[in-house]
Amino acid sequence: AASGAQGMRMILIGPPGAGKGTQAPKIKEKYRCCHLATGDMLRAQVAAKTELGRQAKKIMDEGKLVSDEIMVNMIQNELNNNQECKGGFILDGFPRTVPQAEKLDQMLTAQQKPLKHAIELQIPDELLVARITGRLVHPASGRSYHKIFNPPKQSMTDDLTGEPLIQRSDDNEVTLKKRLGTYHEQTGPVTEYYRKTGIWTKVDAAKEPGQVWKSLLGIIEPSAGGSLLAKIGLK
Ligand code: AP5
Repeated sequence: AASGAQGMRMILIGPPGAGKGTQAPKIKEKYRCCHLATGDMLRAQVAAKTELGRQAKKIMDEGKLVSDEIMVNMIQNELNNNQECKGGFILDGFPRTVPQAEKLDQMLTAQQKPLKHAIELQIPDELLVARITGRLVHPASGRSYHKIFNPPKQSMTDDLTGEPLIQRSDDNEVTLKKRLGTYHEQTGPVTEYYRKTGIWTKVDAAKEPGQVWKSLLGIIEPSAGGSLLAKIGLK
Protein backbone atom coordinates (compact mmCIF):
# COMPACT_ATOMS: atom_id res chain seq x y z
CA ALA A 1 0.00 0.00 0.00
CA ALA A 2 1.10 3.55 -0.62
CA SER A 3 2.46 5.26 2.49
CA GLY A 4 -0.31 7.87 2.47
CA ALA A 5 -2.85 5.14 3.08
CA GLN A 6 -0.97 3.45 5.92
CA GLY A 7 -3.07 3.03 9.01
CA MET A 8 -6.33 3.17 7.07
CA ARG A 9 -9.14 4.57 9.23
CA MET A 10 -12.27 5.02 7.19
CA ILE A 11 -16.04 4.80 7.31
CA LEU A 12 -18.33 4.13 4.36
CA ILE A 13 -21.83 5.61 4.61
CA GLY A 14 -24.63 4.90 2.18
CA PRO A 15 -28.16 3.51 1.86
CA PRO A 16 -28.92 -0.21 1.58
CA GLY A 17 -27.56 -1.40 -1.76
CA ALA A 18 -25.25 1.58 -2.31
CA GLY A 19 -22.28 -0.80 -2.58
CA LYS A 20 -20.63 -0.62 0.86
CA GLY A 21 -20.28 -4.39 1.10
CA THR A 22 -19.07 -4.59 -2.50
CA GLN A 23 -16.30 -2.01 -2.16
CA ALA A 24 -15.15 -2.50 1.46
CA PRO A 25 -13.53 -5.95 0.93
CA LYS A 26 -11.43 -4.44 -1.89
CA ILE A 27 -10.19 -1.72 0.44
CA LYS A 28 -9.45 -4.33 3.11
CA GLU A 29 -7.42 -6.36 0.63
CA LYS A 30 -5.47 -3.41 -0.75
CA TYR A 31 -4.70 -1.69 2.54
CA ARG A 32 -4.51 -4.75 4.80
CA CYS A 33 -6.89 -3.39 7.39
CA CYS A 34 -9.94 -5.01 8.97
CA HIS A 35 -13.42 -4.66 7.46
CA LEU A 36 -16.06 -4.38 10.16
CA ALA A 37 -19.58 -4.72 8.78
CA THR A 38 -22.06 -4.36 11.62
CA GLY A 39 -24.85 -5.98 9.58
CA ASP A 40 -22.64 -9.06 8.99
CA MET A 41 -21.78 -9.18 12.70
CA LEU A 42 -25.48 -9.14 13.62
CA ARG A 43 -26.27 -11.82 11.04
CA ALA A 44 -23.50 -13.97 12.57
CA GLN A 45 -25.33 -13.66 15.90
CA VAL A 46 -28.58 -14.68 14.21
CA ALA A 47 -26.89 -17.73 12.65
CA ALA A 48 -25.38 -18.68 16.04
CA LYS A 49 -28.88 -18.43 17.57
CA THR A 50 -27.76 -16.19 20.45
CA GLU A 51 -30.24 -14.07 22.43
CA LEU A 52 -28.85 -10.95 20.74
CA GLY A 53 -29.31 -12.67 17.38
CA ARG A 54 -32.92 -13.48 18.17
CA GLN A 55 -33.70 -9.86 19.06
CA ALA A 56 -31.63 -8.47 16.16
CA LYS A 57 -33.37 -10.61 13.54
CA LYS A 58 -36.74 -9.16 14.46
CA ILE A 59 -35.40 -5.59 14.32
CA MET A 60 -33.56 -6.15 11.02
CA ASP A 61 -36.60 -7.70 9.37
CA GLU A 62 -38.59 -4.61 10.40
CA GLY A 63 -35.97 -2.35 8.81
CA LYS A 64 -35.25 -0.66 12.14
CA LEU A 65 -31.98 -0.13 14.02
CA VAL A 66 -30.47 -2.15 16.85
CA SER A 67 -29.72 -0.02 19.94
CA ASP A 68 -26.75 2.34 19.91
CA GLU A 69 -25.38 0.82 23.09
CA ILE A 70 -25.16 -2.68 21.62
CA MET A 71 -23.63 -1.46 18.37
CA VAL A 72 -21.06 0.83 20.01
CA ASN A 73 -19.93 -1.99 22.31
CA MET A 74 -19.64 -4.36 19.36
CA ILE A 75 -17.42 -1.97 17.39
CA GLN A 76 -15.34 -0.97 20.41
CA ASN A 77 -14.67 -4.61 21.21
CA GLU A 78 -13.53 -5.39 17.65
CA LEU A 79 -11.36 -2.28 17.31
CA ASN A 80 -9.61 -3.06 20.60
CA ASN A 81 -9.25 -6.83 20.27
CA ASN A 82 -9.30 -7.86 16.62
CA GLN A 83 -5.66 -8.27 15.54
CA GLU A 84 -6.56 -7.48 11.92
CA CYS A 85 -7.63 -3.99 13.04
CA LYS A 86 -4.12 -3.12 14.23
CA GLY A 87 -3.30 -2.18 10.62
CA GLY A 88 -6.32 0.10 10.40
CA PHE A 89 -10.00 -0.37 9.68
CA ILE A 90 -12.87 0.24 7.38
CA LEU A 91 -16.32 0.46 8.97
CA ASP A 92 -19.32 -0.53 6.84
CA GLY A 93 -22.73 0.19 8.33
CA PHE A 94 -21.43 2.07 11.38
CA PRO A 95 -21.98 4.77 12.55
CA ARG A 96 -25.65 4.89 11.59
CA THR A 97 -26.89 7.44 14.14
CA VAL A 98 -25.38 10.68 15.45
CA PRO A 99 -24.83 9.19 18.95
CA GLN A 100 -22.87 6.32 17.32
CA ALA A 101 -20.76 8.86 15.41
CA GLU A 102 -20.07 10.83 18.58
CA LYS A 103 -19.06 7.69 20.50
CA LEU A 104 -16.75 6.62 17.69
CA ASP A 105 -15.10 10.04 17.68
CA GLN A 106 -14.55 9.89 21.44
CA MET A 107 -13.09 6.41 21.19
CA LEU A 108 -10.67 7.29 18.40
CA THR A 109 -9.67 10.66 19.87
CA ALA A 110 -8.75 8.93 23.15
CA GLN A 111 -6.42 6.66 21.16
CA GLN A 112 -5.10 9.60 19.11
CA LYS A 113 -6.14 7.76 15.98
CA PRO A 114 -8.80 9.97 14.38
CA LEU A 115 -10.72 8.98 11.27
CA LYS A 116 -9.06 9.86 7.96
CA HIS A 117 -12.03 9.45 5.64
CA ALA A 118 -15.82 9.53 5.91
CA ILE A 119 -16.98 8.60 2.42
CA GLU A 120 -20.63 8.83 1.43
CA LEU A 121 -21.85 6.59 -1.38
CA GLN A 122 -24.59 8.67 -2.99
CA ILE A 123 -27.29 7.05 -5.11
CA PRO A 124 -30.98 7.77 -5.84
CA ASP A 125 -33.43 5.48 -4.01
CA GLU A 126 -35.02 4.30 -7.29
CA LEU A 127 -31.88 2.40 -8.28
CA LEU A 128 -31.75 0.41 -5.05
CA VAL A 129 -34.75 -1.90 -5.49
CA ALA A 130 -33.16 -3.80 -8.36
CA ARG A 131 -29.84 -4.02 -6.56
CA ILE A 132 -31.31 -5.33 -3.31
CA THR A 133 -33.85 -7.79 -4.70
CA GLY A 134 -31.18 -9.36 -6.98
CA ARG A 135 -28.49 -9.63 -4.34
CA LEU A 136 -26.98 -12.98 -3.38
CA VAL A 137 -24.61 -13.32 -0.43
CA HIS A 138 -22.05 -15.76 0.91
CA PRO A 139 -22.81 -15.58 4.65
CA ALA A 140 -19.44 -16.78 5.97
CA SER A 141 -17.36 -14.13 4.15
CA GLY A 142 -19.94 -11.39 3.55
CA ARG A 143 -19.13 -11.45 -0.19
CA SER A 144 -22.05 -10.29 -2.26
CA TYR A 145 -23.06 -10.98 -5.83
CA HIS A 146 -25.98 -9.93 -7.99
CA LYS A 147 -28.15 -12.16 -10.19
CA ILE A 148 -27.75 -9.75 -13.11
CA PHE A 149 -25.13 -7.09 -12.31
CA ASN A 150 -22.48 -9.37 -10.80
CA PRO A 151 -23.41 -13.04 -11.20
CA PRO A 152 -21.32 -15.79 -9.58
CA LYS A 153 -19.43 -18.06 -12.00
CA GLN A 154 -21.74 -20.94 -11.08
CA SER A 155 -25.38 -20.30 -10.20
CA MET A 156 -26.04 -19.79 -6.43
CA THR A 157 -22.42 -20.75 -5.58
CA ASP A 158 -19.63 -18.69 -4.01
CA ASP A 159 -16.72 -18.29 -6.48
CA LEU A 160 -13.99 -18.80 -3.87
CA THR A 161 -15.33 -21.51 -1.54
CA GLY A 162 -17.91 -23.30 -3.70
CA GLU A 163 -20.39 -22.89 -0.82
CA PRO A 164 -24.05 -22.00 -1.44
CA LEU A 165 -25.24 -18.38 -1.72
CA ILE A 166 -28.39 -17.14 -0.01
CA GLN A 167 -30.81 -14.20 -0.17
CA ARG A 168 -31.07 -12.11 3.01
CA SER A 169 -34.47 -12.19 4.72
CA ASP A 170 -34.53 -8.34 4.75
CA ASP A 171 -33.82 -8.12 1.00
CA ASN A 172 -37.40 -7.77 -0.19
CA GLU A 173 -39.15 -4.67 -1.49
CA VAL A 174 -41.33 -4.11 1.58
CA THR A 175 -38.47 -4.24 4.11
CA LEU A 176 -36.22 -2.24 1.77
CA LYS A 177 -38.71 0.66 1.83
CA LYS A 178 -38.54 0.64 5.64
CA ARG A 179 -34.73 0.43 5.63
CA LEU A 180 -34.59 3.42 3.28
CA GLY A 181 -36.94 5.38 5.54
CA THR A 182 -34.71 4.59 8.52
CA TYR A 183 -31.62 5.54 6.52
CA HIS A 184 -32.90 8.98 5.54
CA GLU A 185 -34.29 9.70 8.98
CA GLN A 186 -31.49 8.45 11.22
CA THR A 187 -28.37 8.21 9.05
CA GLY A 188 -29.01 11.37 7.02
CA PRO A 189 -27.97 13.44 10.07
CA VAL A 190 -24.76 11.37 10.28
CA THR A 191 -23.73 12.56 6.83
CA GLU A 192 -24.48 16.13 7.96
CA TYR A 193 -22.29 15.51 11.01
CA TYR A 194 -19.30 14.52 8.86
CA ARG A 195 -19.91 17.18 6.20
CA LYS A 196 -18.89 19.71 8.83
CA THR A 197 -15.50 18.02 9.22
CA GLY A 198 -12.60 18.06 6.80
CA ILE A 199 -12.73 14.31 6.18
CA TRP A 200 -16.08 13.99 4.35
CA THR A 201 -16.20 13.20 0.64
CA LYS A 202 -18.91 11.82 -1.62
CA VAL A 203 -18.78 9.32 -4.42
CA ASP A 204 -21.31 8.73 -7.19
CA ALA A 205 -22.41 5.18 -6.32
CA ALA A 206 -24.84 4.92 -9.25
CA LYS A 207 -21.88 4.19 -11.55
CA GLU A 208 -20.68 0.67 -12.26
CA PRO A 209 -18.59 -1.01 -9.53
CA GLY A 210 -15.22 -0.48 -11.29
CA GLN A 211 -15.91 3.22 -11.61
CA VAL A 212 -16.95 3.50 -7.95
CA TRP A 213 -13.70 1.74 -6.98
CA LYS A 214 -11.70 4.26 -9.03
CA SER A 215 -13.46 7.15 -7.31
CA LEU A 216 -12.63 5.66 -3.91
CA LEU A 217 -8.97 5.27 -4.85
CA GLY A 218 -8.97 8.86 -6.05
CA ILE A 219 -9.95 9.93 -2.56
CA ILE A 220 -7.62 7.61 -0.65
CA GLU A 221 -4.59 8.19 -2.87
CA PRO A 222 -5.14 11.45 -4.75
CA SER A 223 -1.48 11.63 -5.72
CA ALA A 224 -1.45 8.13 -7.22
CA GLY A 225 -3.34 9.15 -10.34
CA GLY A 226 -6.69 9.70 -8.62
CA SER A 227 -8.83 12.47 -9.99
CA LEU A 228 -8.50 15.89 -8.37
CA LEU A 229 -12.20 16.42 -8.97
CA ALA A 230 -13.01 13.32 -6.91
CA LYS A 231 -10.74 14.56 -4.17
CA ILE A 232 -12.46 17.89 -3.81
CA GLY A 233 -15.86 16.24 -4.06
CA LEU A 234 -16.97 17.52 -7.45
CA LYS A 235 -17.21 14.06 -8.93
P1 AP5 B 1 -26.47 -3.87 6.79
O1 AP5 B 1 -26.09 -5.29 6.60
O2 AP5 B 1 -25.41 -2.86 7.05
O3 AP5 B 1 -27.38 -3.45 5.56
P2 AP5 B 1 -27.52 -2.09 4.73
O4 AP5 B 1 -26.91 -0.87 5.27
O5 AP5 B 1 -28.96 -2.03 4.45
O6 AP5 B 1 -26.60 -2.29 3.55
P3 AP5 B 1 -26.60 -3.43 2.53
O7 AP5 B 1 -25.75 -4.55 2.99
O8 AP5 B 1 -28.02 -3.79 2.17
O9 AP5 B 1 -26.02 -2.69 1.26
P4 AP5 B 1 -24.54 -2.46 0.70
O10 AP5 B 1 -24.33 -1.00 0.57
O11 AP5 B 1 -23.52 -3.22 1.47
O12 AP5 B 1 -24.75 -3.07 -0.75
P5 AP5 B 1 -23.94 -4.20 -1.57
O13 AP5 B 1 -22.52 -3.78 -1.76
O14 AP5 B 1 -24.16 -5.57 -1.02
O15 AP5 B 1 -27.51 -3.76 8.00
C1 AP5 B 1 -28.60 -4.64 8.12
C2 AP5 B 1 -29.42 -4.30 9.36
O16 AP5 B 1 -28.61 -4.48 10.54
C3 AP5 B 1 -29.92 -2.85 9.48
O17 AP5 B 1 -31.12 -2.67 8.78
C4 AP5 B 1 -30.07 -2.70 11.00
O18 AP5 B 1 -31.25 -3.30 11.46
C5 AP5 B 1 -28.90 -3.51 11.54
N1 AP5 B 1 -27.69 -2.67 11.78
C6 AP5 B 1 -26.50 -2.77 11.10
N2 AP5 B 1 -25.63 -1.85 11.54
C7 AP5 B 1 -26.26 -1.15 12.51
C8 AP5 B 1 -25.87 -0.06 13.32
N3 AP5 B 1 -24.66 0.51 13.22
N4 AP5 B 1 -26.78 0.42 14.21
C9 AP5 B 1 -28.00 -0.14 14.34
N5 AP5 B 1 -28.43 -1.17 13.59
C10 AP5 B 1 -27.57 -1.67 12.67
O19 AP5 B 1 -24.68 -4.08 -2.98
C11 AP5 B 1 -26.04 -4.44 -3.13
C12 AP5 B 1 -26.23 -5.22 -4.44
O20 AP5 B 1 -25.96 -4.40 -5.56
C13 AP5 B 1 -25.30 -6.42 -4.58
O21 AP5 B 1 -26.01 -7.47 -5.18
C14 AP5 B 1 -24.17 -5.93 -5.48
O22 AP5 B 1 -23.61 -6.96 -6.25
C15 AP5 B 1 -24.87 -4.90 -6.35
N6 AP5 B 1 -24.02 -3.73 -6.64
C16 AP5 B 1 -23.11 -3.14 -5.80
N7 AP5 B 1 -22.53 -2.08 -6.41
C17 AP5 B 1 -23.10 -2.00 -7.66
C18 AP5 B 1 -22.93 -1.09 -8.75
N8 AP5 B 1 -22.05 -0.07 -8.68
N9 AP5 B 1 -23.69 -1.29 -9.87
C19 AP5 B 1 -24.59 -2.34 -9.93
N10 AP5 B 1 -24.78 -3.23 -8.92
C20 AP5 B 1 -24.05 -3.06 -7.80
